[in-house]
Amino acid sequence: MKKITLASMIVSLGLLGACSQEDHSSSDHDMKGMDHSSMNMEGMDHSSMDMGDGNSTMDMSHETITKLKSSLGNHELSFPKVLKPDDKDSNSISYTVRAQQGTTEIFDGIKTNTYGYNGNFLGPVIRVEKGMKVTIHLVNDLKEDTTFHWHGLEIPGNEDGGPHKVLKPGQSETIQFTVKQEAATLWFHPHPMHETGKQVFKGLAGLLYIDDKNSETLNIPKTYGVDDLPIILQDRTFTDDQQLDYDHTMNEDGTTGDTLLINGVVDPKLTVDRKKVRLRILNGSNMRSYTLHFNNHMAFQQIAGDGGFLNKPDTTQSIEVAPAERAEVIVDFTKVKGNEVKLVTEDNVTVLPIHFKESKAEPNTAKAMETFNHLKVLDEVKNKKVTKTVKLAGMGKNVTINDKKFDKNRIDFTQKQNETEVWEIENVKDSMGGMNHPFHIHGTQFQVISIDGKEPPKSLSGLKDTISLKPGQKAKIAVKFQHKGVYMYHCHILEHEDNGMMGQIKVY
Ligand code: C2O
Ligand code: CU
Ligand code: CU
Repeated sequence: MKKITLASMIVSLGLLGACSQEDHSSSDHDMKGMDHSSMNMEGMDHSSMDMGDGNSTMDMSHETITKLKSSLGNHELSFPKVLKPDDKDSNSISYTVRAQQGTTEIFDGIKTNTYGYNGNFLGPVIRVEKGMKVTIHLVNDLKEDTTFHWHGLEIPGNEDGGPHKVLKPGQSETIQFTVKQEAATLWFHPHPMHETGKQVFKGLAGLLYIDDKNSETLNIPKTYGVDDLPIILQDRTFTDDQQLDYDHTMNEDGTTGDTLLINGVVDPKLTVDRKKVRLRILNGSNMRSYTLHFNNHMAFQQIAGDGGFLNKPDTTQSIEVAPAERAEVIVDFTKVKGNEVKLVTEDNVTVLPIHFKESKAEPNTAKAMETFNHLKVLDEVKNKKVTKTVKLAGMGKNVTINDKKFDKNRIDFTQKQNETEVWEIENVKDSMGGMNHPFHIHGTQFQVISIDGKEPPKSLSGLKDTISLKPGQKAKIAVKFQHKGVYMYHCHILEHEDNGMMGQIKVY
């Protein structure tokens, strides 16, 4: 039985009036002002809603984004373990990364079937240093095909783990690369055609940290698990028996859930020292974006984005992370009055209640923030003509890039290694308004030149590998590849990617 959404039924029945009059351009994923509960499917008879025509052209199921539940704060947040290298010397390091399945006690006393890397759920943190030669032995212990993709890593196309690099069950492969890019919080996840959304949903995602001289000498918190904390945000829907049933929850416009996991922990709370703490936030969700702030509206500083440090910390009270984006922030908890502060979403849903170990603040030795990076978009680059145009369009199964769907045998673009080109990315607004598309390019860290002709906000001034555009928005980005090979570029709503909202570029 084909599942159809309430929204697509409304469309099919021609009852859409109210929806099409909404101004979608100002709202991102959310239909602000609409009552979400009235869009809830629960208690409705799905079978009676099957129109039987298989017509998804009018699907606008993204309008029915599931509302998140607040964290009850009854599980202490844990952090992925840092992966032990198989071998290490001063300029090389090697690891084994194994995709596997197992069960995880996400809910007390209940076994949930999950996927993970080197463990049953999610993955470890892999740490490498700039300049090092890295060898990774990849093993597929799943009962299905997978690939190992290094999101944000500048790596030869052949090692990048796109949909061409399938490992069958039981197969293994060794990849090798030299780290040429600066300190950054990157991540890894599978990329098999049509299956990425499901495999990530079940737990395949891990962090990859690059360290360099700059990150080691900067006066910022850097003790992993103590004051330098990964925060992997993923919303999930569980079945009544607490399983992750992707086929059941899947939404062609991006699968969302009512339950937020951080680092795989449900209802998390964080207990930390009352001092400056660095949070490395990764949005590892299939489609949901988060705009986060503290419930006391305290300011904090963003120090890094996807591909490394900003030039200067950006002081802000809220931060938006679209799917696949990373943001590193430093929060000064000595400034909090009382013993609790909460990290919350734009809808004031509690993401993470935070408590302090000491009631008194530790003396704050950290100096004023120095200069972190020296990025600049050269005038020469800014003045370059646009040589690649990317038009993101559609919804549901009808998503396209430049009116085309992914074809693994078609190369859409070519670009010369080490040559900077200006790409223009446009999220094409349609009559229904459209939706945000987080656009990602493999194998490069780009710089945002402008958004709708204007200078980008500070939060987007660092190196980026993903940029989220609202319907109608246009961005110019400066793109350079340090390596050769074939790379994907795509929307990072995983279901859009799986539906073919992806193209490939050959770097020669
Ligand atoms: Cu996060 Cu194609 O990647
Ligand atoms: Cu990627
Ligand atoms: Cu998309």
